[in-house]
Amino acid sequence: MLPELEPAYRGRRVCVTGGAGFIGSHLVSALVELGADVSVIDDLSTGRRRNLPEPARLVAGSILEPAALAKAVTGAQVIFHLAALTSVAESVERPEDYLQVNDAGTLRVLEAARAAAAPDHRVVYAASSSVYGDRGEIALVESLAPKPASPYAASKCAGEQILSAYAVCHGLSCISLRYFNIFGPRQQPDSPYAAVIPRFAEALLAGRRLTVYGDGTQTRDFTHVADAVRANLLAGASERPLRGESVNIACGRRSDLLTLIRLMGEILGVEPAYELAPPRAGEVKHSLADITAAGELLGYRPLVGLEKGLKETLAYFADESKSS
Ligand SMILES: NC(=O)c1ccc[n+]([C@@H]2O[C@H](COP(=O)([O-])OP(=O)(O)OC[C@H]3O[C@@H](n4cnc5c(N)ncnc54)[C@H](O)[C@@H]3O)[C@@H](O)[C@H]2O)c1
Repeated sequence: MLPELEPAYRGRRVCVTGGAGFIGSHLVSALVELGADVSVIDDLSTGRRRNLPEPARLVAGSILEPAALAKAVTGAQVIFHLAALTSVAESVERPEDYLQVNDAGTLRVLEAARAAAAPDHRVVYAASSSVYGDRGEIALVESLAPKPASPYAASKCAGEQILSAYAVCHGLSCISLRYFNIFGPRQQPDSPYAAVIPRFAEALLAGRRLTVYGDGTQTRDFTHVADAVRANLLAGASERPLRGESVNIACGRRSDLLTLIRLMGEILGVEPAYELAPPRAGEVKHSLADITAAGELLGYRPLVGLEKGLKETLAYFADESKSS
């Protein structure tokens, strides 16, 4: 992936927090391929040791533990901060845990980096489209003021603000990448809070009826994980002075859930059955990104469309269901 970035990463020390998780582990694989010297800190709460390629080093611990953090970030020139609690619905039930890990945790990552990372280190933060809240059908652009609609969204919004504050008071080189509904292999289907694509994939492969929260006309800007990884690599390598900007990382297209279900059924050659359930608290009706800023600042553009990404993802889940 992006061989032209190899000179920027070969032999460079980088740290990925949450690197055993879904997006983090894809990023770690790409960094290892580019020749970076990668350390990971992950408490393995949702991440998996087996997601990590050799020779990435794992510090199995929490970003809330300063000693574990110091071990992971020492000497790092780029810190990709992805560790977080990630479910909108669960955050409504466990708001304190979400603010603790996502905000106190972010602060501790930045402090550990100040103490032990390379002097001119950069932090690339995994932010979230959820900061926009419910804005109807408009394309979401970074100039809109945040309007979080769940403790998860509020915690990710505060994470961005903490980064911006460090850019101002410590001159930290940093950027927030606001991901929109990332999907792909290794995303977990087996929690009650799983994202929609892995949940539907698992149910369709098992011949089960799908549960759609809401009426199915809600839309999302589904973005393949390879595009999120590419955005991280570009941000980590950018020669521009980054000062806490927030940019959308997405595909830039909207799809409604009923269309998603139809597409998934077509790819698998099955007729999907589904039932409607009441919408879940904190979830927005529509989500579509304007991705102009990421293009201008980082040279980002999405390369994997929904259909291609779904084919690859469904093939992965089909293999997984055979081997389990
Ligand atoms: N998947 C998406 O669509 C999406 C959208 C917007 C933002 N994000 C953000 O991207 C990041 C990665 O999300 P993901 O989808 O890969 O989820 P994930 O759950 O697979 O990854 C999160 C990782 O963080 C680890 N973790 C959690 N608490 C920790 C702690 N206290 N200390 C150390 N590690 C801890 C988990 O074990 C896991 O490996 C998160 O910051 C999330 O908020 C994801």
